[in-house]
Amino acid sequence: MSSPLVPAEPAATGDGTPYSALYDDVYHTAHGALAQARHVFLAGNALPARWMEAERFVILETGFGLGLNFLATWQAWRESGTRGRLYFVSVEKHPFRRADLAALLAPHAELGALAAELLRQWPPLTTGFHHLHFDAGRVTLTLLLGDARTLLPQLTAHVDAVYLDGFAPAKNPALWSPALLATLSRLCRSQATLATWSVAGELRRTLQQQGWQVERRPGFAGKREMLRGVAGSPAPTPDPSGAPAERRAIVIGAGLAGTAISERLAARGWRIELFERHAAPAQEASGNPSGILLPHLAKDDALAARLSRACYLYALRRFADLAGLRWSPCGVLQVARDAAHESLQRATVEQLGLPADFAAFLDHAAAAALIGRPLAHGGWWFPGGGWVSPASICGALLAAAGEAVDARFATEVAALRQTADGWQAFDAAGRLLADAPHVVLANAHDANRLLQQALPLTPIRGQVSYLPPAIADAMTPPLHHVVCRSGYITPPQAGKVCIGASFDSGDTDLRIRAADHAGNLQRLDELLPGAAAGIDAALLDGRVGLRAATPDRLPLIGTLPDTSAIIGNGTTLEKLPRLEGLHALLGLSARGMVWAPLAAELLASQLAGDPLPVERALARAVDPARFHLRDLHRGKAGL
Ligand SMILES: Cc1cc2nc3c(=O)[nH]c(=O)nc-3n(C[C@H](O)[C@H](O)[C@H](O)COP(=O)(O)OP(=O)(O)OC[C@H]3O[C@@H](n4cnc5c(N)ncnc54)[C@H](O)[C@@H]3O)c2cc1C
Ligand SMILES: C[S@@+](CC[C@H](N)C(=O)[O-])C[C@H]1O[C@@H](n2cnc3c(N)ncnc32)[C@H](O)[C@@H]1O
Repeated sequence: MSSPLVPAEPAATGDGTPYSALYDDVYHTAHGALAQARHVFLAGNALPARWMEAERFVILETGFGLGLNFLATWQAWRESGTRGRLYFVSVEKHPFRRADLAALLAPHAELGALAAELLRQWPPLTTGFHHLHFDAGRVTLTLLLGDARTLLPQLTAHVDAVYLDGFAPAKNPALWSPALLATLSRLCRSQATLATWSVAGELRRTLQQQGWQVERRPGFAGKREMLRGVAGSPAPTPDPSGAPAERRAIVIGAGLAGTAISERLAARGWRIELFERHAAPAQEASGNPSGILLPHLAKDDALAARLSRACYLYALRRFADLAGLRWSPCGVLQVARDAAHESLQRATVEQLGLPADFAAFLDHAAAAALIGRPLAHGGWWFPGGGWVSPASICGALLAAAGEAVDARFATEVAALRQTADGWQAFDAAGRLLADAPHVVLANAHDANRLLQQALPLTPIRGQVSYLPPAIADAMTPPLHHVVCRSGYITPPQAGKVCIGASFDSGDTDLRIRAADHAGNLQRLDELLPGAAAGIDAALLDGRVGLRAATPDRLPLIGTLPDTSAIIGNGTTLEKLPRLEGLHALLGLSARGMVWAPLAAELLASQLAGDPLPVERALARAVDPARFHLRDLHRGKAGL
């Protein structure tokens, strides 16, 4: 289980230099943090020159601190006019709270807009990876919040330059240990460089043992020397080539999954042919008027909860920046089911040390006061959560992707065929629709119709009901937040209040049922006692959709396994043969609005060879080959 983050407490030395009492060291030299960043870390890594021709450049830093190295690097990136993409990955065990960071950055007026943008996107201080995009996605900061010793082994990246900026090795040996440096070296490409102000003898020897050619150079201001290293020959690791040669893909399905992956690939310069059997996007599961945005919490912070948190926080940042979205981050109250659940909710927030800007526990009285009406129990309060129109997400994503996506509506893909160069898609009459090196299946439970193998996807029927405007308008007090339990209710949008939802596994009937409206009203009554009184289920309108769910309720994200390959005993996900170029973004189940943005970013990063936005353990947990591997280990599939 991940331990709660302990934020840094701001302090300063007599001359005003930011200081850490925990480590008894300063955050940067008294001679100027930005000048130090430019001399030691940028020039030390031969930047900007080295990134000028790069399509993608990846920097890894130990110790984000005040983010001054990042901001100086971003500024230099902007000023250099390079056309590529910058990935800056930084690990931080004790991040500053937003207000403290704002105060610490205020003296650096020259950073102005960049510092303001970093602060705007500064995440709630929760453990794990936080993936932030700047400058319309040309600059990406992946903040690994937690101990470098735990998180760096979870990083998947091909690093070009390293900034070693932990506190002094003597004060903080953990961040300079041979094991940590070996982890870091393994992430580096063969011509990677590193720079640091430390010239400690042990550091130099360790780096040399790990294949780095190190040299001392003139240090910054008061310091005589600094260190620069080049990943020597033989390289610390084999150099993975990363980016694919031809950036074209066929995407099947224009719901949340298909539009999200199309947009993420388009942002990386890919060209997409997107096929959708309906005349418009978002006509199936993604067509409800609204859905709710909240994370899943678990007291042991298990994989599913960590994935859900990463997806939720990423989705909120993306939605805040997407033009044309219909949504409201109005906050979500998740009312406890009973007294035992209420105790569990309270204990979860306390044990995980969750920050209030992410999740808080409100006792019965506080929860009722927030909503303005009687409730059965207290609950979790997610102040950043809310509701969103999924169709508006699909529309906004397609608009953002622009001409890079050729959307072919009213066109059903009936068959796929693998060729020497990739994949071909055909219609029901056997006509070739398109060919490309990559295909992304984003067509929910229908994916199996196009595959030789059966992915474990179960349709789960769900019906939502709309309270008519007369009832919605008469609600007193008016509802300002989403409230949920086993059911949910959203505040009115265009006079309509959405309540939901039924959950029938294996049922594919798309007809509206009065009995399901009655079920939704019953769930509403459990949630807000008395709110369903006098509403006739027979008069309600609503909508039915099919969720596509896997047995472990986690999505399928990644390249499909080649189930026809003969495998030896003891194989792993990494070694399992794959169907090259055939990828899944499926199984978004009951949480597609929360999951789709990060799921798409993960898949696009995998396809492009970019640093992954989530921990290795999370990427493995959603690997579409996991069920096949399980079958192999149980002896159900051919070994
Ligand atoms: C009742 C209900 C309530 C929900 N509430 C919430 C909520 O509150 N919060 C939340 O986060 N999520 C919620 N969800 C889940 C969310 O809506 C889904 O996870 C999400 O919409 C799934 O998106 P998708 O793109 O995978 O699937 P879909 O939206 O179903 O898209 C698949 C697309 O593929 C197309 N297609 C299929 N086969 C082919 C083919 N061969 N050729 C061309 N096109 C094809 C289909 O026409 C369809 O448009 C809810 C779902 C339901 C049903
Ligand atoms: C010298 S400061 C970094 C300054 C920063 N690069 C900047 O530009 O402002 C060192 C940072 O390393 C962090 N740190 C120390 N030990 C760590 C660990 N084990 N894992 C991750 N971060 C750690 C500290 O909390 C501190 O913020």
